[in-house]
Amino acid sequence: MSVPRIAVDALTTVYGEGARRVEAVKAVSFSVEPGTAFGLVGESGSGKSTVLRALCGLAPVSGGRVLFDGEALSGRRSRAFTRQVQMVFQDPYGSLHPRHTIDRILSEPLSIHGLSDRDRRIEAALADVGLDPAFRFRLPHQLSGGQRQRVAIARVLILEPSVLLLDEPTSALDASIQAEILNLLARLRREHGLTYLFVSHDLAVIDHMCDRLLVMRAGEAVEELDAEALATRQVESAYTQALMKASEGFVRPAAV
Ligand SMILES: Nc1ncnc2c1ncn2[C@@H]1O[C@H](COP(=O)(O)OP(=O)(O)O)[C@@H](O)[C@H]1O
Ligand SMILES: [Mg+2]
Repeated sequence: MSVPRIAVDALTTVYGEGARRVEAVKAVSFSVEPGTAFGLVGESGSGKSTVLRALCGLAPVSGGRVLFDGEALSGRRSRAFTRQVQMVFQDPYGSLHPRHTIDRILSEPLSIHGLSDRDRRIEAALADVGLDPAFRFRLPHQLSGGQRQRVAIARVLILEPSVLLLDEPTSALDASIQAEILNLLARLRREHGLTYLFVSHDLAVIDHMCDRLLVMRAGEAVEELDAEALATRQVESAYTQALMKASEGFVRPAAV
């Protein structure tokens, strides 16, 4: 067995104190092998985003550990980590500065990480996400929601990461655009050998994207499954069955 790219080992995250205390994640464990796609699925408030935030150092690790390539992460993340592990968010409107051109938006991570070869990298990143080079000098409001999410993906890919943490990256998009972006993400993963930790409240999306998944509920891990168990409906918990029922007709049927 290789060293997992990402490991979450009995992670507990507590926000606030006293009457405001919230145990958002309760002793959750899973690991993500290099080059695979792992899904976290559960309804809103189940603690999915908190797990991603704890990995990035944006939420407290109150108990347990989070590891990258076998090394426990603590304190401020290193420059190497922040380049290797990139986060993609739900909202393609809020995540792009409204008055910055796409050129400037894509240049920013390059300057932060001191990378040269700016023109070549920007052109390659746009091509990677299927955007015409002419988009470079447009502003976010001149783009559709799907095109903006492509820019947001280009902005993280431009650093040549090995891991993407994707937090509901298509939930704000129309259904047809959602499928386009999911297919783009699947292609990028293949082409770049990326590892994905993919969060969604939608089991159909996770089923489409992931090799393995963990069902979460109220901060707890309910059940871990692989794609085959999902396809053949071999699930144990009543909660997972209810999630499956809710996405009935979308979850891939078992191969015959
Ligand atoms: N910064 C915060 N401070 C206090 N509570 C929070 C904070 N962020 C999230 N929570 C709470 O933690 C729980 C899990 O939230 P979250 O991880 O965002 O769930 P999900 O992404 O599955 O919707 C929720 O009860 C939420 O209200
Ligand atoms: Mg969330």
